[in-house]
Amino acid sequence: MKIIHTLLIVVLIASAAWCQIEVYETQKETSLRITRGRDLQWSSNDRTANAVLTVDVDSNKQYQPIIGWGGAFTEASAHVFKQLNPQVQDEVMEAYFGPNGLNYTLCRTHMNSCDFSLENYSCDNTTGDFALENFNINRDLRYIVPLIKLAQRKKPSLKWFFTPWSPPAWMKGNGKMDETSKPGLIWKDQYKKTWALFFHKFIQAYKKQGIEFWGVTVQNEPEAITSWDTCYYSKEEERDFVRDYLGPLLRQNYPDLKIMIWDHNRDNIFEWAKTILGDEETAKYVDGTAFHWYVDNLYENVQKTYETYPNKFVLASEACHCPGVKLYDYERGELYARDIIHDLNAGSGGWIDWNILLDSVGGPNHVGNFCDAPLVKDKDQQKIHYQFTYYHLGHFTKFMQVDGKRIFSKVSDRTDKVYSAAVLNPDGRVSLVIQNMSDEDFDVKIQDGSRTAVATIAAHSIKTFRYQK
Ligand SMILES: *[C@@H]1O[C@H](CO)[C@@H](O)[C@H](O)[C@H]1NC(C)=O
Ligand SMILES: *[C@@H]1O[C@H](CO)[C@@H](O)[C@H](O)[C@H]1NC(C)=O
Ligand SMILES: *[C@@H]1O[C@H](CO)[C@@H](O)[C@H](O)[C@H]1NC(C)=O
Ligand SMILES: *[C@@H]1O[C@H](CO)[C@@H](O)[C@H](O)[C@H]1NC(C)=O
Repeated sequence: MKIIHTLLIVVLIASAAWCQIEVYETQKETSLRITRGRDLQWSSNDRTANAVLTVDVDSNKQYQPIIGWGGAFTEASAHVFKQLNPQVQDEVMEAYFGPNGLNYTLCRTHMNSCDFSLENYSCDNTTGDFALENFNINRDLRYIVPLIKLAQRKKPSLKWFFTPWSPPAWMKGNGKMDETSKPGLIWKDQYKKTWALFFHKFIQAYKKQGIEFWGVTVQNEPEAITSWDTCYYSKEEERDFVRDYLGPLLRQNYPDLKIMIWDHNRDNIFEWAKTILGDEETAKYVDGTAFHWYVDNLYENVQKTYETYPNKFVLASEACHCPGVKLYDYERGELYARDIIHDLNAGSGGWIDWNILLDSVGGPNHVGNFCDAPLVKDKDQQKIHYQFTYYHLGHFTKFMQVDGKRIFSKVSDRTDKVYSAAVLNPDGRVSLVIQNMSDEDFDVKIQDGSRTAVATIAAHSIKTFRYQK
């Protein structure tokens, strides 16, 4: 009798859970921050008559798998982290990697300096050292490596990829790490061979520290001409470098390492993919195409890349707001979520933020290119400011699991201010995000197969819904 009783309760709880939809909300000018609200119930159609919009969800229509979510471990972030006392350091680790934090799964770092370094530096600054006998990562052992180790201890399953901004000055056409010339590298065979070897040495040196890379991008923003660390490549130059030097060397030594091309904005992503992935010889070395968020919209270019080369993933690999820090600015969070939703729907396997932590002006940055970050250290105190970008990221990173599949979802919105994206997780639960960027509250009907539920999406708010498929 007691067993039957217990069984009955278990069945009741299970079926109640099955009927319910968990709701998490963040909203402007309220204290809601990924806050769990009252569960919604699936209901019959007649109760949904007043809904203005419908979100159709179909978990049988499945698209790209989720690869990961994360941010970047720059020298700047690691330097700010080192200024925190141990208690606040723990708080930051918890905020990103703990079970109640963002649960990041895929993070990025840089090989040699980037603008978010304290100054420019490289792992081998000895002119003419083509065999890289003087190669070392001593500089990284100061700030970056200890922070990566700490994160790894907190979360051993974390995946890492790295990106170079510039080769050492002596390998560049302009003789500087900063700025660039065309071509960026001195494109003689001897330099290209050495530059490929540089990647190999970097991976080995990190492996010695117990850090294994999941992936690499060939060059940060190869078409950018900036005042900081950079190196220009044309799409043909990147193709040839990957095919003749980098691809063969890395494939031979690290067969599972993911090699990503482009790593620049959405505008030219397809042209680059066509040149590089469209070349059979090169394509066999390439796993995916990474892209940045610094041009608005143009999501159709990402989608075209994803659909034309379905065996190669696309991944949003960098985003941030500039200039400087705007404390507690809601719009900056909202724009992150808008971008994540559109990138997911265009085929992206995740979304990687830029600096995980910065100081109160948005640095340090050795050329004064200050930007915002989800976590910002207070100017005077041992205190962390949580920006809305942190919470908007969390609406995805905490609910959309690695190896989940993006599924069909569509909002019947006439104003184009309400967006949705959905993922079917490996645990059988659907996570659906709906964001309203408009100034009014309204009701949305969620329709998944024959089930419907009505939710109010307040003006300037974002909600994650989670339910059993
Ligand atoms: C590298 O070495 C050159 C020549 O010795 C020096 O001018 C430069 O400042 C050094 N550092 C970097 C980052 O290139
Ligand atoms: C290093 O960066 C500084 C700016 O921080 C710049 O003035 C200098 O030219 C750079 N040096 C090299 C070798 O790129
Ligand atoms: C964290 O992410 C991993 C991979 O997506 C997932 O398996 C795990 O359940 C997540 N943890 C929590 C507490 O949500
Ligand atoms: C949300 O967006 C919709 C559609 O843009 C708009 O009609 C409504 O007033 C906005 N407010 C809410 C909360 O929907």
